[in-house]
Amino acid sequence: MKNINKLILVLLVGFIGLQFFRPEKIDHGTKTQDLANVPNAVNTILRNSCFDCHSSEVNLRWYDKITPANFLVNSHIKEGRAALDFSKWNSWPKPQQNSTIYYAINKVLSGEMPIPSYAAVHSSAKLNEDQINILKNYALSIAPRKISDDAQLQSAEKQYNSWINGELKNPHIKPAPNRLQYIPDYRNWKAISTTDRFDNGTMRIIFGNDVAVKAIQKRKTNPWPDGSIFAKTAWNQHVQKDGSVSTGEFIQVEFMVKDAEKYKQTKGWGWGRWKGNNLKPYGETADFDKDCIECHQPVANQDYVFTSPLYLISQLKKIQTK
Ligand code: HEC
Ligand code: HEC
Repeated sequence: MKNINKLILVLLVGFIGLQFFRPEKIDHGTKTQDLANVPNAVNTILRNSCFDCHSSEVNLRWYDKITPANFLVNSHIKEGRAALDFSKWNSWPKPQQNSTIYYAINKVLSGEMPIPSYAAVHSSAKLNEDQINILKNYALSIAPRKISDDAQLQSAEKQYNSWINGELKNPHIKPAPNRLQYIPDYRNWKAISTTDRFDNGTMRIIFGNDVAVKAIQKRKTNPWPDGSIFAKTAWNQHVQKDGSVSTGEFIQVEFMVKDAEKYKQTKGWGWGRWKGNNLKPYGETADFDKDCIECHQPVANQDYVFTSPLYLISQLKKIQTK
C-alpha cells in the first residue's frame, strides 16, 4: 500500500516537473478580422473550426496548455499557420482569395480538415452537415453555372476533337520567358487528377510523367524526385441542359519540371504556361514565375505541389485517427 502511494507521488511529482518543459511560445491572442467579402455564416464557421490553427487568433483551452498536449497543439498551430494564414486575407489579390477558399473548402469536403484528431477533442471545431453545406454553397455561388448554347457546345466539341487528334501540335512553339521548353508529349502521360473549379467555371486535368507516376507508386513524393514533371491543362466548362458538364474551349497548359539544382532559384521547379490554341508562352519577363510560386506557397510543405496523390490522403487519415 505504502509503495503504491509512493508510486503515485513519484508520478505526480514527475507530471508537475514535466510542466516546466514548455514548447516555444507562439504569439496568439491577436484577433483576426472577418474575411472581407465573405458572408457572415461562412466567416463564423471558419473562425470556429479553422482559425485556431490558421490565423494569428488562437484560442487555447486549459487542456491544450498541459505538457505534453501543448507540444502537439503548438506544432499543429505552427504548421497550420505556415500552410495557410487567414490573417493575411486582406493582402491577397481577389483571385488568390477565391482559389484559397475553394481549396480550403475542398479540404473540408474530403474530410482532411479540420484535423480529425483535433476536432475529436475540440468539439466546437467539428463541422456538421449544415455547416458543410453552407461552405459548399458559398463556393458554388462565387461563379454560378450558366447553361451553354448549342453553337458553343459544337465549337467546343470540334476544338476538343482536334486537340485529341493532335492537330494543334505546332513545331514552332516558343519557350517560356524563363527558357523552359514546351513539352508536347504530355498528352501521353497518365492523368493523375482532375479538378472542377466550380468557382471560375473551368475544368482541369493534371498529368504526371513516368518519373512522377513511379514516385507516387513508391510513395516518395515529398520532395518529388528530379525529373518529375506535371502538366495541368484547363478548359472552360460547358453545362448542358440536363446539368451534365463537358469541356469547352482550351485555355492553357502549365508545366512544373522538377530539378532541385537547376531550378534552385525557383523552389526546385521550372515553371511555364502556354495559352490558347496557338500555345503562346505566358509572361513578359523571365521572372513571371514568381506569381506561380506565390500562389503555390500554401503547399510549400509538400514541395509546392497541390495535387495530393490519393494514398497520401488515406495515409493522413490513418495517422490522424491513431
Ligand atoms: C489543429 C489544427 C488545425 C485545424 C483546427 C485546421 N487545420 Fe488546416 N492544417 C493544419 C496543419 C498542421 C496543416 C499543414 C499540414 C497538412 O497539410 O496536413 C494544415 C493545412 C491546411 C491546408 C493546406 C493543405 C495543404 O495541402 O497544405 C488547408 C487548405 C487547410 N488546412 C484548411 C483548413 C480548414 C478549412 C480548416 C477548418 C475547417 C482547418 N484547416 C482546420 C492544422 C489545422
Ligand atoms: C491563383 C493561384 C495560382 C497561380 C497564380 C498558379 N497556380 Fe498552379 N495551381 C494552383 C492550384 C490551386 C492548383 C491545384 C489544382 C487545381 O485546383 O486546379 C495548381 C496546380 C498546378 C499544377 C499541377 C501540380 C500541382 O501543384 O497540383 C501545375 C503544373 C501548375 N499549377 C503550374 C503553375 C504555373 C506554371 C503557374 C504560373 C505560370 C501557376 N501554376 C500559377 C494555383 C495557382
